[in-house]
Parts: sequence; C-alpha cells; structure tokens
Amino acid sequence: MADRRVGILGLGAYLPEKVLTNSDLEKLVETSDEWIRTRTGIRERRIAEKGTPTSELAAKASTEAIQSAGLKPTDIDLIILATISPDMFFPSTACLVQNKIGARCPGFDISAACSGFPYAVSIGEGLIRSGTYRHILAIGAEVISGFINWKDRSTCVLFGDGAGAAVLGEVSDGHGILATYMGSDGSQAELLQIPAGGSAIPPSLASIESGLHYVQMEGSEVFKAAVRTMSDSVLEVAKRANVAIEDIDCLIPHQANLRILSAVCERTGIPLEKTFINLDRYGNMSAASTVVALYEAAKQGKIKKNSNVVLVAFGSGLTWAACAIRW
Ligand code: UT7
Repeated sequence: MADRRVGILGLGAYLPEKVLTNSDLEKLVETSDEWIRTRTGIRERRIAEKGTPTSELAAKASTEAIQSAGLKPTDIDLIILATISPDMFFPSTACLVQNKIGARCPGFDISAACSGFPYAVSIGEGLIRSGTYRHILAIGAEVISGFINWKDRSTCVLFGDGAGAAVLGEVSDGHGILATYMGSDGSQAELLQIPAGGSAIPPSLASIESGLHYVQMEGSEVFKAAVRTMSDSVLEVAKRANVAIEDIDCLIPHQANLRILSAVCERTGIPLEKTFINLDRYGNMSAASTVVALYEAAKQGKIKKNSNVVLVAFGSGLTWAACAIRW
C-alpha cells in the first residue's frame, strides 16, 4: 500500500469570458496600466457575470477534467474543493458541484486561500495512497470579484475569477506525486483577510458600511512573506522528493505578482524561463491560480512525460504548500 503512487489523470479549466483590462480599471480607480504592469505584471483578468456562483465555474472545469481522465462523473469517489468565495456558507460548494456534474460521492470544501489547490492535492494523495478512495476530484475555484472593494486600488487591480480541476488516481512506472508539503502561521492572519461575515463579526449594516466584507491586505508584508514561504516550500518539497533543484523542469507557482515570482526564482536557483506564468492574463485567482496554470502548462507542452513539476502556493492564513510531481 505504501508503494501506491498517486498522479493526475486529467485536468480541466474554465475562465469567464468577460475581460477586465488595466485601462478599464483606470476608469474605476486612480491607477494606471503602467503602475499595474510594472508593480505586478498583470495586464488583464477575467470577471464572472454578476450572479454567477463559484460552483458553476467549478462544474465546467470538473466536467472537462473527468472527460480528459477518460472517466464518468459516477467514477469520482470524493470531491475536495478549495475556495475562499464559496456559493454560500453552507452547504459546501463541493456538494453543489457534485449535483451539477452528476457525481454520487461525498465532498467537502477546504479553506486555505491561494494555497487551496496544493492543499487539496496533498489531502487527496494521502486518501488514495491509503486505499480509502480511488478517484478524487481536486478543485480550485473562485468568483472572488464579488468580495473585492472596487474603490480600493490596492486590491481591486490584483484579482480575477476562474476555476480549475484535477482528477487524482493511481499511476505506475515511477510517475505521479513524489512529495507534498503544507504549512500555516495563524499569527499573521490579519495580513490578508475578509474580516466580517463569520462568527467574529457577523453581518450587520455597520459591517457592510465599514467595508469589512471585502478583501483587505497589507500588500508589502504579504509580498515579503510570499517570497520567503514559497522559496522555502520549493526547497523543502524538492528535498522530500529527492529531486535536485536543477532537475526541476517546470515550476507552477501561485500567480500573485511577477516580482514575487522573480524573487522566488532567484532564492531557489530555478531559472525564470522554467517558471510558468499566466498572471498577465488572469491576475490572482486565489485557489484557482495553480491548477489553471498547471492545466495551461500541460496544454502548451511545457510539461512533458517524465518532467519534474513543482506546484507551489502561498496565501491567507498565512498558508503555504507545495507538491512535487513526476509527469
Ligand atoms: O494571493 C495572496 C497573496 N497576495 C500577494 O501575494 C500580494 C502581495 N503584494 C503585492 O503584490 C504588492 O505588495 C502590491 C502589488 C499589492 C503593491 O505593490 P507595492 O510595490 O508593495 O506597493 P505599495 O503597497 O508599497 O504602494 C506603493 C505606492 C503607494 O503610494 P505612496 O504611498 O508611495 O504614495 C500606494 O498608494 O503605490 C500606490 N498604489 C497604487 N498606485 C497606483 C497602490 N496601489 C496602486 C494602484 N495604482 N493600483
């Protein structure tokens, strides 16, 4: 049982059609395309139509992932959905996706913010390796645009909506997930949060008027923590996987800021050319970022059979996580 190796059998992604460019944002807040591009690397992002729930994006990505794995929805044994923008407090968005795609299995959401997808993969890997489940659908999905203060230039230029999904299952011949790593530090929770809406500050007229239901972030502190924790996570997961840094063929990082990615590459010794970047087109899609990047890297042939791939993410919590995969 310990020898059972888990891999990614199929991938799917869904991005809303509506594109919001930096010049569109110039009309909403005091910002400029030049500032956003040079400080973040972002040029545009996708925004879901008003009233579109996260489960809708997640279901579309999931259907594609299941088809590309050559499976049927009823072959899925468990759904793990990572999001910070669930359809509602309860039931879980995973249950809503289960119904939308026609699966008949248990499902639950996890809250690990931008680290959500590598967290979901880590949990799923353990449950398949132990023999508990055979096929697990790991999803990262967000319609975060509804939780953004579109008058706050320090956050509204950064985020976008999207979804990605992966089917996990047993693989052979030395392929699959070689190692996983997860971390968190709740002492820094206030650096990045939506303060109200939960039991600490239940919804009220006052909480709404104070903007406490929107994403709030200490940008430069988060920046420093992102560089440190993502670099450390890459080094740790490579060590656990027994893969030398120079043997990493493709780094799939959480897509928050191009300057963060350059700094992570510098600290880990991974060339930027081996790093997959799509934040210019989608911005920061929180839990959806790494899985959509993985999907596109595979589609574009940046990941080939036997490639050593490292997924790494960082987010609110603070949380961080990495997975090393032999493709
Ligand atoms: O996914 C979770 C993880 N999230 C992240 O990793 C985000 C991490 N943080 C960042 O990416 C960066 O900190 C930001 C992109 C958010 C901000 O970049 P920065 O270089 O840290 O800028 P700053 O916050 O230090 O602000 C510099 C200046 C300020 O003006 P003053 O005080 O120097 O006059 C800001 O008011 O830039 C101003 N500013 C803007 N100007 C034009 C902040 N946002 C904007 C904006 N347009 N959108």
